Amino acid sequence: MIRTFVTRPGTGDPKGSPEAVLPDCPAVTKVVAGPGAAARLARELPRIAKGRWFVVSSKPVFDRHGDALAGAGLVDPPVLVPDGEKAKTWKALGELLDTLVSRGLRRDCGLVALGGGTVGDVAGLAAALALRGVPIVQMPTTLLAASDSALGGKTAVDLPAGKNLAGVLHHPALVLVDTNFLATLPDRDVRSGLAEIVKTSFLDVGFHRRMGGLLAGLGARDPGALAEGAWRSLRVKAGVVARDPEERSGARFVLNLGHTAGHALETASGHRLRHGEAVAWGLLTILELSRERGLPEREARLMTQRVMELVNPPKLSPRTLATWPAFLGADKKADAAGLRVVTLEAAGRPRVERATPQEIARAFERALRAYNLG
Ligand SMILES: NC(=O)c1ccc[n+]([C@@H]2O[C@H](COP(=O)([O-])OP(=O)(O)OC[C@H]3O[C@@H](n4cnc5c(N)ncnc54)[C@H](O)[C@@H]3O)[C@@H](O)[C@H]2O)c1
Ligand SMILES: [Zn+2]
Repeated sequence: MIRTFVTRPGTGDPKGSPEAVLPDCPAVTKVVAGPGAAARLARELPRIAKGRWFVVSSKPVFDRHGDALAGAGLVDPPVLVPDGEKAKTWKALGELLDTLVSRGLRRDCGLVALGGGTVGDVAGLAAALALRGVPIVQMPTTLLAASDSALGGKTAVDLPAGKNLAGVLHHPALVLVDTNFLATLPDRDVRSGLAEIVKTSFLDVGFHRRMGGLLAGLGARDPGALAEGAWRSLRVKAGVVARDPEERSGARFVLNLGHTAGHALETASGHRLRHGEAVAWGLLTILELSRERGLPEREARLMTQRVMELVNPPKLSPRTLATWPAFLGADKKADAAGLRVVTLEAAGRPRVERATPQEIARAFERALRAYNLG
């Protein structure tokens, strides 16, 4: 089954019919998801931009799934960026922009990002910068991208001081999720994606309840369960983003649940930890902190269990453990008064609060003692 919704950032919850998409309004994102959804590309692209479309991907991803774009009438060969986090550097971004412009990118053109969150993030930033902005279509191929990063408009490259420290918001015109792509993912990437799905389920009472029924299917890597998990995640995220598309009011900040410690650990590990694995450690940390601040024990235990059951993040290396606190302060969420973190009052009730790096480190230590079992 292919499902569709349209989100209008700034106007409230996602709603409206797909026909209501305004192709010239970049703040409107249409989401189409389901098995075989890639076949919709041919129909969707001309509604968004009349010029040429350039596919941005990485070699391993394009070799595997590039064929799915064959019917879309794209004539140019894909522009390839390095695979994985190496795509998110100034160098890769610069080369991507140079290639696009030298191949004749014009303002009536657009980009299709085919890949995981790394391809999506750097292609999104290139789309925002090239000629001061061309539209982008996100075609996520990892569970993490399909459930989270493809939607919301955040684009970035990394700096030595930390992840995602240079970027802008550039909302995709279309997020096209072909859930067939997920079948070829290594299990480690499935678990990484499940971390974001679990995170999002903690932000919404309805999704949190539904997770109970999805657990077995997600654990068994059932394609239908994975597709539903990704779909529900995108819906919840769209609702949050729609209330605060530019991350101004603070409403959108709740999507950073688990990401304060998570980003620090990811950077400290030299990106040997997958984003979702690091976020899983971040979630375990924040559950400890939330417990201390009043999250009922029974809920904390249930949520912790879900993180462990679905993600079971890997053991952390001594080097990561020794260096990660230094990266806490480099987080974009840091300011003079300490760190802004998202805690949970209850399942589906996130709260934005302050915590000192020491408090976060102590909560992490507790999680580590309980779960760094290897
Ligand atoms: N923009 C946002 O809102 C946002 C949100 C969350 C995460 N992110 C970013 O996303 C990035 C992580 O994304 P990711 O986990 O997708 O990593 P990724 O893009 O590096 O992909 C992981 C690996 O999976 C491979 N792969 C991709 N699709 C595949 C498929 N269908 N089958 C087999 N292999 C496949 C890739 O070749 C790659 O080696 C991080 O940089 C993170 O900061 C961004
Ligand atoms: Zn994330």
